[in-house]
Order: sequence, then structure tokens, then C-alpha cells
Amino acid sequence: MCGIVGYVGKFDCVDFLVQGLRRLEYRGYDSSGIVTVNKSGGMHVAKAAGRIDKLVAKLAQTEMSGKLGVGHTRWATHGPATDVNSHPHVGGDGLLAVVHNGVIENFRPLKQRLEAAGYCFRSATDTEVVAHLIASYWELELAAQPDLTPKSMAAQGYEPLVRAVRASLQKLHGTYGLAVVFRDYPDVIIAAKLGSPLVVGVGDGEHFLASDPSPLVGGTDKIVYLDDHEIAVITADSLRVLHRDLGEKHADVQTLATNTIEVDMAGYEHFMLKEIFEQPDTLRNTMRGRLKPDEATAHFGGLNLTAKELRSVRRIVLTGCGTSWHAGLVGEYLIEELARIPVEVEYASELRYRNPPLDDGTLVFAITQSGETADTLAAMREMKRMGHMTLAISNVVGSSIAKEAHGGIYLHAGPEIGVASTKAFTSQCAALTMLALYLGRMRHLSPVQGAQIIEQLQALPDKVNAALECDAVVRRIAEKYAHCRTFLYLGRQFNFPAALEGALKLKEISYIHAEGYPAAEMKHGPIALVDSETPSVFIVPQGAVFDKVISNMEEIKARGGPVIAITCSEGAKAIGALADDIIEIPTVADFLQPIITAIPTQLLAYYIALERGCDVDKPRNLAKSVTVE
Ligand code: G6P
Repeated sequence: MCGIVGYVGKFDCVDFLVQGLRRLEYRGYDSSGIVTVNKSGGMHVAKAAGRIDKLVAKLAQTEMSGKLGVGHTRWATHGPATDVNSHPHVGGDGLLAVVHNGVIENFRPLKQRLEAAGYCFRSATDTEVVAHLIASYWELELAAQPDLTPKSMAAQGYEPLVRAVRASLQKLHGTYGLAVVFRDYPDVIIAAKLGSPLVVGVGDGEHFLASDPSPLVGGTDKIVYLDDHEIAVITADSLRVLHRDLGEKHADVQTLATNTIEVDMAGYEHFMLKEIFEQPDTLRNTMRGRLKPDEATAHFGGLNLTAKELRSVRRIVLTGCGTSWHAGLVGEYLIEELARIPVEVEYASELRYRNPPLDDGTLVFAITQSGETADTLAAMREMKRMGHMTLAISNVVGSSIAKEAHGGIYLHAGPEIGVASTKAFTSQCAALTMLALYLGRMRHLSPVQGAQIIEQLQALPDKVNAALECDAVVRRIAEKYAHCRTFLYLGRQFNFPAALEGALKLKEISYIHAEGYPAAEMKHGPIALVDSETPSVFIVPQGAVFDKVISNMEEIKARGGPVIAITCSEGAKAIGALADDIIEIPTVADFLQPIITAIPTQLLAYYIALERGCDVDKPRNLAKSVTVE
């Protein structure tokens, strides 16, 4: 979703801003722009709908430069992706410019008021309201002190600018991560955060600003995470952080762990492929130090709950969006089977507005790769407000959801750049398996059962490695079916969520319609879709319901539908000629199957998208981190 990058320091910033925007591309965007302010030439804006290359082409026609600037990638919410709607937005006839992530919910009444006061709107965005609103307060300050030079402004600690920004923020309802630059003050950026992440990078005689740490790679590893309601006043040599309403705050400078900033493709054609192939390692990282063979259980450092509190849990709610919601469904099977605790899985976007009757023994987990998904954050806050313990299962360290939860489990899967989630999903499933083991061992699971689960988890990364050997087979199958317009993904038990996730992967990156269903349920509707051009991907490794799924396969074959089977070697023998294509995967316990079967479904989606010429890492309309409702 939208991204922000900014710089103030000793060097010209245009190249840094463009490079920073490219680093933010993975979040999903449809247009981009930058603004620079310099001592001699005032403020200059360039923006373009489409990919960043379009902006770069425009920049080549200008002579934009400056040692202070801000850039933005936009993901359209209010108004289509056009040059005009792209950020930065200029306020008050060129006095200042604003970039903004988030949504201003009361933009309509504010716009009406500002229009009545003579401000001329050019775009359909909510952000332009912010620009004119700040300008309106800034003009009042200017009227009181018309002779403010950059020098006298600096001497006042930029207080007049801060007052104008603060007064505007107090009028806004909604969420924002925003940066403001002023035409006549080429040495200061003012940033503010509420519900949309912003970080400040601290360099030597320079400061950076970004909506996540990735643009700071190579610039600095010293970072300040802004909190909600904070305002940062940033110059080359100084960083002042203040609470919007309460005044000065201490800027807590942290050192960024190196693994959070490894963002290159390591020789792979796409981030998604790299991330698929990283999974043996990312799973090792998720499990590192958490398996306790001597006690036949798992251990987590950050749950912040006592054993007594965990033993008194009577119900678990798992919530999230997209792929993280699918991991929640896997978690439901896992926790109910291994720990015998009733689990409900809720879409975060629904949970936040429902009023479910949850009793005191309810524990809520927010599952999220980014830790910033607006609906998940809101659902978690609502559960907290109702007095429930809320924990996070998240990948991004220091993210909003991780910070606001009572405690949680980090995935340690490293940065996931491909918009379609892959390694985060398998790490979420692994974390949930360990959680189920931990809770189970506090209840009825015996040490022998616990030890068996640990052995199976320890063997998992090598099994995933073996599963990746299906790459060439999957590629051939992808070439065969890439022209089809609908796919069904079918599985039962643990492999039902795997079917949903497989279908989502295909939809996300190849734009082919795909539906995931419990294999037997397929008879109640989706079977009507079956014809010779509608492949069904059966996720049927082995296990208790194997024979039942084979019957479902027969039903598809009888109607002329192509069948692709994902199964283990024994399963392959039993399926034989019933399937048109077979993808073999290693045998694992049923509760680990969603992790193994994810591999071929991820690869299938990837190669079909590649075959169709789609932009795998940056699929149309999607965003990596959905920070709007
Ligand atoms: C977006 C992404 C999905 C992701 C979902 C939830 O839709 O494109 O890949 O599963 O958000 O994101 P989260 O970061 O909360 O897991």
C-alpha cells in the first residue's frame, strides 16, 4: 500500500528518493511522486501514474534537485490512479506539500469548509484536504509573523510550523503517516503518525524518513519508530519528537537488525521465487530455540502469560486477513487436535464490528505478516477493549500489532517482499504447530506424543527442501494449464485451508479465477463449473480421508475435468491414471501437510503467472500491507 520516503541532509536527494520508492514498490502502488525544496529555487513537484519508471522519465525532463525532499507511492483509495491524484499534494497555492498514507475519514466536511474559504482543489484525494488544512493554519501563523526567515524559524525550533501542523492534525479523523515540506523552509520536514507506520533514520548530518525501514538500507541502521500521535521535526542535524497534545518526547534510537534489511533477490528472477525457495531456512528460523526436546514441548519467550493463565484458557480466537486468515484456519485444526481447546477463526474485518459473546477464558491471537493490516489492528484493539488477552503472531519486528499486543510470537522469516505471501504462511503454520504443542503439553498430550511432534518438526525443513524438488514438474504442469480461466482447489481436513490458500495464490498473481473448497463439498455447487478447461487441483497427500478424496476425484473425472493431484509417493501409486498430472511431495504427519503442500501450490501459481506474463511480485490492485479499512 502507499509508501513514504524522505531525506534531509548534505547530499542531493533525488536519486535516494527514487531508489527508496523502488524499495517500497513491494507494498503495492499505482502511482508515485516526489517533491524537493532547495535554498535557491523553491519547491518542485513531479508525479506520474503508473510504475516508478514513468516518474523517472518525467524527472529526466526536469532539473529537480535539493538536499531536502519527500517521495510517495500511492495505492488509490479516493480517486483513480492519475497524475493529478498522485502525491505530493500542494497546499495553499504552493506554500507547502504533503504526502500521506492512510485515510482521512472526515475529508468531505473539511473539503467543503476549505473550498468555502477559497482553497482550490485539484484532485479527488482525501490528502489534498490535509495539504490545504495545514496551509490554512500556516497562513494564520504567517499573518502573525510575516517576516519569518529560515534562520529565524530555526531559531524558534520550527514552532510556528509545528503549531500549524498540530492544529490540523487535531481536526483529522482517520489514519495518517504524513510528511510535510514547506516552500520557504528548505531545511525541515515535519512528519506525523497515527495508525500508519513511519520511521526516522538517523545518519551523520542527515536524516531519513520512511514508512518502513527498507528504503534506509545502506543509509543508516539507526532508526526511531514513531508512535501514534507523535510529530517529528526533522532537519539535517536534529530530530525532535513530540506528542501531538502532550509536548516533548525522547527519541528512542534503535539499531536495526541486519536481517530485517536484506532485501535483494539473491539471483532469483522474482522475490516470490526467492521467498518460496527460502522456506527451509525460514522455517528453521521460526523454530530456532523454541523446541524443547527434554521437556517434549515448545517454549516461547514473548507470550507474557504465566503457565497458570495459559492453563485457564477455554477458548481461542484466531483473527487475520488474507493468507494470515488461512494460517488461522490451519491453526484451528492444529490447536483443536493437539490441545483440545475450542478455536474460532474470524476475518479481522468482520470481528472488528461484531460483538461476539466471548467469556473470560478467551485468548485472542492476531495473525499477520506485516503487523500493520488495518483491520487486524482494529480487531485486536476491540478485543483488548473487551478485556481479552491479545497476542500477536507477526513477522515484522516492532510493527504496530506486535507493539500493541500483550505479547506474541515473532516468525523470524525475514522480510517478505513478494506481495503474495509464501514464507510467512508456512512460518505462521509452524508457529501455530508449536503453539498447539505447547498448549497441548499443558493439557492431555503425553511426553511421548510431544517428543514425536518435536521430531517431526525438526525434520520439517528437510522435507520442505525435498518438496521443492517438484519445481520442474510443476513448471511443466503450469505451461499446460496456464490458458485455463477457472481452477478448483480441493482438499479435506488440514488440506482444506491449504486448498483455500492455493486458490488465493493463483488468483492473486495470475488473475485466474480459482476457488478453494472442501473436496466433498465440491458436489454442492462448484461441480457445475467442471469441464475440460477447468482443472481441479486435489491436495491429497495421504491419511484418513485419502480414499474419500479419491472418490471426489472420480466425480471430477467422470465430468471430463482435468485432475492435478498433489500427493505423496504411495498416494501417487493409488491415484495412478485417475489424475492427468501428479505432483509428488514427501510424506509428513497430517498436521504438517499444509506446510508441505503449500510448496507446489505456490510454485504452480508462480509459474502460471509467469507463463501469462503477469507482474509476479507486484500484482495489479494488490498491496503488501493493507493499511486502510
Ligand atoms: C494483503 C496481502 C496478503 C496478506 C494480507 C494480510 O492482502 O496482499 O498477502 O495475506 O494482506 O496481511 P498481513 O500482513 O496482516 O498478514
